[in-house]
Amino acid sequence: MKKSNKIQFNKDFFVGTAFSGTQTESGFNLDHKSESVWDLWYRTEPNKFFNQMNVVNNARLDYKKQIAKAEELSINSMRTSIQWTRLIPDGENVSEEAVKYYRNYFEEIKSKGIDLFVNLFHFDTPAWLYEKGGFETKEAIVKYTIYAKKAFELFGDIVDKWFTFNEPLVPVEMGYLNTFHLPGKIDVKKAMQSMHNYLMSHLFAVREFKKLNLKTEIGIILNITPVIPRSNSKEDLEAKEFADIFFYDCFLSPIYKGKYPDKLIEHAKVNGYMWEQTEEEIELINSKIGIDILGLNYYQPRRVQAAHNKEFVLDKPIEGQLFDNYKYPDAIINKHRGWEIYPKGIYDMLISIKENYNNPKVFIAENGIGVENESKFEKNGMIQDDYRIDFFKEHLKEVNKAISEGSNCVGYHIWTFIDNWSWLNAYKNRYGVISLDIKSGKLSNKLSFDWFKNFAIERGFDE
Ligand code: BGC
Repeated sequence: MKKSNKIQFNKDFFVGTAFSGTQTESGFNLDHKSESVWDLWYRTEPNKFFNQMNVVNNARLDYKKQIAKAEELSINSMRTSIQWTRLIPDGENVSEEAVKYYRNYFEEIKSKGIDLFVNLFHFDTPAWLYEKGGFETKEAIVKYTIYAKKAFELFGDIVDKWFTFNEPLVPVEMGYLNTFHLPGKIDVKKAMQSMHNYLMSHLFAVREFKKLNLKTEIGIILNITPVIPRSNSKEDLEAKEFADIFFYDCFLSPIYKGKYPDKLIEHAKVNGYMWEQTEEEIELINSKIGIDILGLNYYQPRRVQAAHNKEFVLDKPIEGQLFDNYKYPDAIINKHRGWEIYPKGIYDMLISIKENYNNPKVFIAENGIGVENESKFEKNGMIQDDYRIDFFKEHLKEVNKAISEGSNCVGYHIWTFIDNWSWLNAYKNRYGVISLDIKSGKLSNKLSFDWFKNFAIERGFDE
């Protein structure tokens, strides 16, 4: 018989879950909330969304029920996001009702002994800002900084860890190099101007945060999808280098090294997409203002090969021009979602962050598996999601290994605890350890609930 091995994390390891306000709150007509870009899109083109579904999770009114589930799951930390459009509907005036709601919500979380991680932006640009060009504009930086400062002042006494953005490069990639987010127009120049404006919004917000001398920490959450080249040929390695630069180093290098990657600046200048940046912005980047903690979301690796098309134009995605995606024949695919399952990628990511950015404090801010039609796995009234337990175990083993090799990783949050709405896919893929009946709102634990609960209590598991 194979001897079972214990995978153990230390007792103050953060074990919890992530989700976002946009994906769980509903309550669209409460608190004078204004529309986000998602509300606007849903109102104007509902048939773009899977089964024409909008958010039915109802944290705005039912947050106590949700937090009771978190308590039952025995987690020690959780992350949600404030919706900018709820807290400051017109960009200037705070909604007192929203302040009350978020305060009650946060107090409820804290009263259960759960550490509160709050993110300020989860793809939810206000519609009034989007209509003026969103993060393509410098106004976004000004308005976002006002919002962030207000949030720090209002809730600085209760939030344990702040995050300025979740995956800011996703709206850039999906909105300007793809069509899964608005505005859905392919434009490398606008993509990179937005990238820069997101980065600056982050840095200005961190500067405001530091002025307030709060005792808590601030960071950002990025999806540092590790890039795997098809081969070690010069061309494939160059494709990897470009993918690394565009999908994370354009953020991590300014944050940790005080400058954009040289190769990016050079390429941007030669190819006509250098973004506008003021002297003040450059100085702020150079000042290496720093963060306390970096959140890392990991789902799957990005495999690349040399691009076929070498001529670079601004109205085509960079994918296909600077690198091509590579379909690895031996990949293990989650056939219910189409994403590759590659647990070693989480280890590679942690080690590369340790080696390339001077081993900052990090935590796994999202990791999980989405499955379509999950009810087909139901037996005796419970979804038997052993695949999810295996997914967590395999990834946690790799996290544990990276820590034993020196990674400064202090926690692991799953995406997610209760099934929730996910952008254009709406409720197609379910990620929770608790299922949500979208008609009745009933919550039921899946098989993985008990496994994760046990892990949260023990901070360890038998292999
Ligand atoms: C996002 C979530 C999303 C999840 C599953 C993550 O990258 O942060 O908002 O629901 O992926 O698609």
